[in-house]
Amino acid sequence: MKKKLTIGLFGFGVVGQGLYNVLSQTQGVKAEIKRIVIKDKTKTRSLPSELFTTNKEDVLNDPSIDIVVELINDHVAAFDIVKEAVTRGKHVVTANKRMLAENLEEIYSLQQQYGKSILYEGSVCGSIPIIRNLEEYYDNDLLTSIEGIFNGSTNYILTKVFEEKKSYADALVKAQELGFAETDPALDVEGYDPKFKLVIAIAHTFGVFVQPHQVINIGIDKISETDLKYAKENNLSIKLVARAFKQGTKVFGFVAPQFIEQHHPLASIRNEYNAVLVEGAFAEKQTFVGKGAGSYPTGSAVLSDVSALTYGYCYEYKKRLQHEPLTFSNDLLVEAVVSFEKEIPITIHDFEKFKSGYAANSKQLLCGLVSLEKLKTWSALPGVSVVLAPNAEFKVSVREKTSVLEVA
Ligand code: HSE
Repeated sequence: MKKKLTIGLFGFGVVGQGLYNVLSQTQGVKAEIKRIVIKDKTKTRSLPSELFTTNKEDVLNDPSIDIVVELINDHVAAFDIVKEAVTRGKHVVTANKRMLAENLEEIYSLQQQYGKSILYEGSVCGSIPIIRNLEEYYDNDLLTSIEGIFNGSTNYILTKVFEEKKSYADALVKAQELGFAETDPALDVEGYDPKFKLVIAIAHTFGVFVQPHQVINIGIDKISETDLKYAKENNLSIKLVARAFKQGTKVFGFVAPQFIEQHHPLASIRNEYNAVLVEGAFAEKQTFVGKGAGSYPTGSAVLSDVSALTYGYCYEYKKRLQHEPLTFSNDLLVEAVVSFEKEIPITIHDFEKFKSGYAANSKQLLCGLVSLEKLKTWSALPGVSVVLAPNAEFKVSVREKTSVLEVA
């Protein structure tokens, strides 16, 4: 039986306004926003001033408010709001991927302890309904991998650079203007934002809680002219890919740019669109595509969580109970293309299996299987760019065992 719900909203930025608008236009969801907590009361607002307050107690202390929707930027303050809301008997909906990724295990425990839901569909890939599908639709499938484009801003930038020959800097400014980029866009272009989303997805795909600092992220900020030339000569594009897969009792996961062949399912994903490719033992490969950033698309995912609360939905973190506990590992060899200034001391001997390479002018380009940890170190060096090879091979490191993984 659907219940009418009263919402206290924290934050009225891009997503908060999106939620307000989709909520006023939707027919089906029985919910109304009673108060909106904001930081700056002097800003001109599009709604009556009595809706707004700068005092969080106006929401947290109001017994008529059933749900706190947390859509602020500050991940530390956001976690405080979530904790206070749940301990005071309110359900929470949030889209704060960093806050969730850094505190997911505690968020899981808070829900068990207080019997309240914390839902966060909008935190991973905007409008794509992935968390609830992982929880419910793939309830009993044996999921083996999840990968895709988990960041709208970088996909927008790469689309503009590849298809419209725009400069990287101009495309980034446009992504900021359109409200896709984070307040600190380094979180997007250095691959942190998709990493936070991957951490959340890993919990619902494999039942493993992993801390963001354990997951390696390589961004698109170092992509070089050599990479663009290599892509053009080989009819490839570049996408920032987040991926996690399971082998035996280990889960591997990382974010890195990758050369993508034209027939690959990610090749046609353009602008702020995201895509998630899920693979399970029974359903096999499935692809979800949708807008990964923006006011209405993310607002629609938040709305869907509010709607789910009208019938008492909560995540059960089902994969935690379905198999022997899995552990997260970075002991992986990855096939990558590394381009760098000639004087940088990277050689073919650094590669576990060297495949090809060339030197031209002051640049070198080497391709082969190399440890993920080494790639992370190289990607932090000035003048070095790391892009995974098209259809990259992944191999569990010799420290573990050496079977080749079949991951597209
Ligand atoms: N900055 C994020 C992105 C917003 O570009 O995908 C949506 O999470």
